[in-house]
Amino acid sequence: MEEFFNLRTVKWRSGKVLMIDQTRLPGRLRYVKCRTAREVAQAIRRMVVRGAPAIGVAAAMGLALVAYRSKAETKRQILKEMESASKMLGVTRPTAVNLTWALSAIIETARRSGEDPEAVRKAVIEKAVQMAEDDFQANLKIGEYGASLIADGDTVLTHCNAGALATVGYGTALAPIRTSLKQGKSVKVIATETRPRLQGARLTAFELSRDRIPVKVITDGMVGYVMSRGLVQKVIVGADRIVRDGVFNKIGTYTIAIAARHHRIPFYVAAPTSTFDSFNLSEGVRIEERSPSEVTHISGIRVVPRNVGVLNPSFDFTPINLVDAIVSEKGVLNHPTRESVMQFVQKV
Ligand code: MRU
Repeated sequence: MEEFFNLRTVKWRSGKVLMIDQTRLPGRLRYVKCRTAREVAQAIRRMVVRGAPAIGVAAAMGLALVAYRSKAETKRQILKEMESASKMLGVTRPTAVNLTWALSAIIETARRSGEDPEAVRKAVIEKAVQMAEDDFQANLKIGEYGASLIADGDTVLTHCNAGALATVGYGTALAPIRTSLKQGKSVKVIATETRPRLQGARLTAFELSRDRIPVKVITDGMVGYVMSRGLVQKVIVGADRIVRDGVFNKIGTYTIAIAARHHRIPFYVAAPTSTFDSFNLSEGVRIEERSPSEVTHISGIRVVPRNVGVLNPSFDFTPINLVDAIVSEKGVLNHPTRESVMQFVQKV
């Protein structure tokens, strides 16, 4: 079988960061170019690039742009410019831990590199490019480990988009599905629409259908129905942050996990090491609240009366006891607990 979804969501190309413009999908597949860290920050905020691992790599490359364009003559100066850009990038989306993880790793690389600004530039760009490659390789491993959880003939329900588009390539939640198909298993997918930004309908359905993987889209309210009818054998979702007591992921994940437990359907989370915040608990993690207009309007048309308020949290928290297994590039952690999550991934 040919390589699945062989485009890279984010890439470094001669002093520019190229990213697939996800606000235009599924209608139009095109790359946009960012030349400055400010443009990268704007792209993350507008969700031109989204998905925890993709955001992390984009931010890392944003810092690489600062180093690339800097006219600084000392290491101190270039570091100052990078630290200020890191602050700006770090507040674009607060929930996905990959963002702060990637920014810290780049700043650390700059600090440890040689004294000459040119040495800093070289080290930082190399590190950002390497992060992109590492993300892709981690996803291939997640695919291998996660495929062991999928049986021939399974229909897998997934939420939001934790596919190639949410990463540098291949995806996290969609990786085990891709690898199972490569292994010759027959696997179908049910993708939840994922209101309000429709990542399931627009992005998951786009990338799976492009790979000719059978996929059906349902609205978020249909999850209980498809489970009660025996139409789903497994659930696999991605994560924005895995803490010791549970998983932060796209709003609606918690409801799906509860429904899966009620119907005795295994609920799996697939995420690379960069998504683990495994020394911390959920307390204090900020859930991004996005603009009310995402809920009050559909395609520019108001669907909620003017004088009615709305809530728009972008993520929710699923307690660890509802998770049957976590898959990372390090393997499969069955029946995770507060203790085992911490031991599973020791971040560097
Ligand atoms: O708001 P988004 O589209 O960035 O949210 C994305 C998700 O919630 C994904 O499930 C998560 O980032 C994992 S992506 C591999």
